[in-house]
Amino acid sequence: MTGELSPIDTAKFVAAKRAVEFVEDGMRIGMGTGSTAAWMVKCLGELVRDEGLKITGVPTSTRTAELARQVGIKVVSLDEARWLDLTIDGTDEFDADLCLIKGGGGALLQEKIVATASDQMIVIADPSKQVEHLGAFPLPVEVIPFGWQTTKALIEEMLVSMDVLGQSATLRMNGDAAFVTDEGNHIVDLHLTRIGNPRQMSLVLNQVPGVVENGLFIDICDVVVTGYADGRVEVLDINEGTLEEDQINFADAENMFADI
Ligand code: A5P
Repeated sequence: MTGELSPIDTAKFVAAKRAVEFVEDGMRIGMGTGSTAAWMVKCLGELVRDEGLKITGVPTSTRTAELARQVGIKVVSLDEARWLDLTIDGTDEFDADLCLIKGGGGALLQEKIVATASDQMIVIADPSKQVEHLGAFPLPVEVIPFGWQTTKALIEEMLVSMDVLGQSATLRMNGDAAFVTDEGNHIVDLHLTRIGNPRQMSLVLNQVPGVVENGLFIDICDVVVTGYADGRVEVLDINEGTLEEDQINFADAENMFADI
């Protein structure tokens, strides 16, 4: 089966593989959610199993918790860990300042709490996630179910005065019913096309009653590891102002994880 990973999965895998090199024995690790983060959890599981790495993991969703347990990672809650050394997560978009849009998988609230409670956040991405301006990906906003239609209307009213190209908002659905997050809330997706001032947008959104949190991550991400289908990775560190290149061997990836 070697070599049968799709180009996109190869890119995600090599980004994850490079990112887990930041993990050290004894660390408390925040584990993100999504298809890229799932590769990271599998890579961490491999290090635990084959190299005896000792870590404690705090998952950002029930599905990440399940996968982490499956691959042998000790899972604890954020309340048990209190503070984390490092969080590794995927993203829906990132810009040159390493501002992010997250929440495509609906886990933005736990993801933001966990990343903020970490000394460092590393994002793993394939090249499609890099953008000049945030906003082509719909911005997820988590709202409480009580009065969600009023909350959505208030958000739409607020958007009129913001520096954005689109202003429509849609309730995220799961089949015929409203999507429900791990925290029992709904998601309103904002179709903005381009967000002129992400920092202002994030602050203003969180002032709307009924909004729990939004998917803009500002000044939270420290490093982005971008993986490519040929095994190349780029490590961009915003604090150090460095961009390093590396090459990851991915030949055995599919065999390694075939049983998971
Ligand atoms: C989950 O809610 C999101 O924030 C994910 O991190 C994001 O959607 C990236 O997911 P993929 O790695 O599947 O693209």
